[in-house]
Amino acid sequence: MKKRIAVLPGDGIGPEVTKQAKKVLGVIADRFGHDFEYKKGLVGAIAIEETGDPLPKETLETCLEADAILFGAIGDPKYDNNPNAKVRPEQGLLRLRKELGLYANIRPVKTYDSLVDRSPLKRIHVEGTDLVIYRELAGGIYFGDKGRSEDGESAYDHCTYSVKEIEQIAKLAFEAAQSRRKKLTLIDKANVLETSRLWRQTVQVIAQNYPDVEVEYLFVDNAAMQIILRPNQFDVILTENMFGDIISDESSVITGSIGLLPSASIGEKTSLFEPIHGSYPQAAGKDIANPIATILSVAMMLEHFGLYEEAELINTNIDFMIRKGLVTQDLHSRNFISCSKVGDALSLLLDQNISDVRFENMFEGKLPVI
Ligand code: IPM
Ligand code: MG
Repeated sequence: MKKRIAVLPGDGIGPEVTKQAKKVLGVIADRFGHDFEYKKGLVGAIAIEETGDPLPKETLETCLEADAILFGAIGDPKYDNNPNAKVRPEQGLLRLRKELGLYANIRPVKTYDSLVDRSPLKRIHVEGTDLVIYRELAGGIYFGDKGRSEDGESAYDHCTYSVKEIEQIAKLAFEAAQSRRKKLTLIDKANVLETSRLWRQTVQVIAQNYPDVEVEYLFVDNAAMQIILRPNQFDVILTENMFGDIISDESSVITGSIGLLPSASIGEKTSLFEPIHGSYPQAAGKDIANPIATILSVAMMLEHFGLYEEAELINTNIDFMIRKGLVTQDLHSRNFISCSKVGDALSLLLDQNISDVRFENMFEGKLPVI
């Protein structure tokens, strides 16, 4: 299969983690006889530095022409601490989501048995957690009118949703529930917000077409609590943009590290695949970041191409590496390997028979082959 992949490494640890993900894609291409062609694009703070624009025109064109986008991370503390900045790295990602009509952000959260003790929650609450968040990504308060009053003493961010915007993501979430454990939880704030009442009303209508799916409605404050108390009660979570942003970071720590969570953003044009973690500037250039979230995002990309066997191979080998403790320091503070070694080890596993690999060597800085 021939595919063009736009690679947008972005800021902070973005370039390091996307490099490992590309390494893995290369091995998959060789093993299965695919032809993946990459084209790099600037985005975020680095794009502002080089062009003055967080999403240069050429990057958008590259994305529109590609079959999929591999995205690293964006953000720089320089802008976070300057509320007066006129251009911000995040605008690059937000504009990209809008331009591509990426209305559904899919974020699976799954615990790994061997990591259950790393979770800040007790084993009995974490075990068996396997949920997926369907976050609306192209509307709501993120994209409504925003501004300041003339005297600068007040500010506003409008939150708007249309039935159509809710319907298109709700359908995807119901379909996902049908192929999973047939439970869908809508998270909203319908006791206070009009937009949430429209969400609830629209979802109630759509639910009639999916009689086999059990639907539950939770207010976001209660949901934030339930995710910590009993994460394994959830199957598919459907929610709007801002609540989804918050709930997905909250859910990510359940697995023991935010460095493990991938995501897929799909919509009208090219789909985008990115880890849910940010640019983690403190770790940039140190080769310590966890590339697994990005590699798992690549597995979601392969599934999107219909390459299920390839995706499955990556997922099982990542499971295997986590079980063997071949992980970065966010997952194991004493015995750990670097970001690039995780990519090397996985590439070897994908390339050859597991029994030929000696993982002990990895900790001594050698390659794990006999
Ligand atoms: C995410 C991020 C982004 C968001 C930022 C970087 C704009 O937090 O993808 O969750 O808020 O959507
Ligand atoms: Mg976020």
